[in-house]
Amino acid sequence: MWEQHLFDDAPVSSSLHAMDREHYLPVFKRLPVAFAMGKGCQLYDTDGKKYLDALAGIAVCNLGHAHPAVNEVIRRQSEELLHVSNFFITKPQAMLAQQLTTAAQMDHVFLCNSGTEAFEGAVKLARKYASAMGRGKTIVSMKEAFHGRTMAAMAAMAPGKPEMQKDFGPIPEGFIQIPFNDTEAFKKIASPEIGAVVIEPIQGEGGINVARKEYLMEVKALCDQHNILLIFDEIQCGMGRTGALFAKDLYGVQPDIMLLAKALGNGIPIGAILCDKKVSQTIKPGDHGTTFGGNPLACAVALTVLREMLKPGFLEQVKQKGNRLKAKLLKLKNNHDSITEVRGEGLMLGVEVDGDAKDLVTKLLKKGVVANATANNVLRLVPPLIISEEEIDTLAQAIHECLQVNTT
Ligand SMILES: Cc1ncc(COP(=O)(O)O)c(C=O)c1O
Repeated sequence: MWEQHLFDDAPVSSSLHAMDREHYLPVFKRLPVAFAMGKGCQLYDTDGKKYLDALAGIAVCNLGHAHPAVNEVIRRQSEELLHVSNFFITKPQAMLAQQLTTAAQMDHVFLCNSGTEAFEGAVKLARKYASAMGRGKTIVSMKEAFHGRTMAAMAAMAPGKPEMQKDFGPIPEGFIQIPFNDTEAFKKIASPEIGAVVIEPIQGEGGINVARKEYLMEVKALCDQHNILLIFDEIQCGMGRTGALFAKDLYGVQPDIMLLAKALGNGIPIGAILCDKKVSQTIKPGDHGTTFGGNPLACAVALTVLREMLKPGFLEQVKQKGNRLKAKLLKLKNNHDSITEVRGEGLMLGVEVDGDAKDLVTKLLKKGVVANATANNVLRLVPPLIISEEEIDTLAQAIHECLQVNTT
């Protein structure tokens, strides 16, 4: 282990929380744990207590914590080159661009630093395309969608959220929302006024809502018919999470633009906007840019992540483990009336409960399991994709025990 000289005199957990409360902008509802270390699917808090990680930093550490290949590439790349301006190309960036576009069967990529930044860039690309085509620039998003925290991302989510308009307005214009999985709703508005439609094939923050295959196929057909760009936000559901490298592969539907972030860097910040030639040909130098995006460190790590996920059998084992966990959760549903639904694909699973899922999260944390609640009543399980069968069984057993406590 590395020498912890930087943090040798760091205070104990309770004082760390006090420091955080005093100095960090109070935007997060913190849980009462401070983490110090991770290995595989295990996390260790500052007191040395071990946890099973069923959250993976919200679908980020898909290869698990301290993955040897990721650690090695960080070490080697940091010794060679961390950053140069995008005035210059580097080996990691050019190679990642080539391998990511090939894996996604798309023509071009722009690399940035986060999911919300990828969304923001996609809005610009879609607007530029609409400009070039002389058509409307309205962007359609789905109810319960989540695309990030910047202004355009908020604008895409704001139509159904008056408090966002009130507190953070004026919100950028040109966004409308329609119900998810509802072809008729899209059919009604599909017109030359619409520039693009953005969909998470599996909504993460919205409560693990899975798009129907026919829905995505029908939306794709309508987009082709009306020359509307189809954008998939795969920031949470991409990078192996569903047992396919990208969720679009599960559906056999090819978008014009696809967004990645989170697990692409396994914890090192990186985002990506992938697009087709028809979109990229409207872009010229200066239309978009970034200082940090696509830096050699992040690209070298992303290249490693991609290689690990494309190794024979990797995605197959995600499917098998996802099936094992889902089967266990469905069994729990039979035994616990408080579970109303189990849904999701691969290792992106949601357990909908009758009540507030936060209580379950708190109980699990006390038991040494890290998970999270989304859409109020959904327990979200997005563990590292390298989770073992034994760990899956431990996770299901812990949920069972916490639900038992719930009912007594
Ligand atoms: C589907 C989706 N899009 C965008 C984002 C925003 O990503 P970031 O937090 O990296 O800005 C998230 C984050 O949870 C997400 O789940």
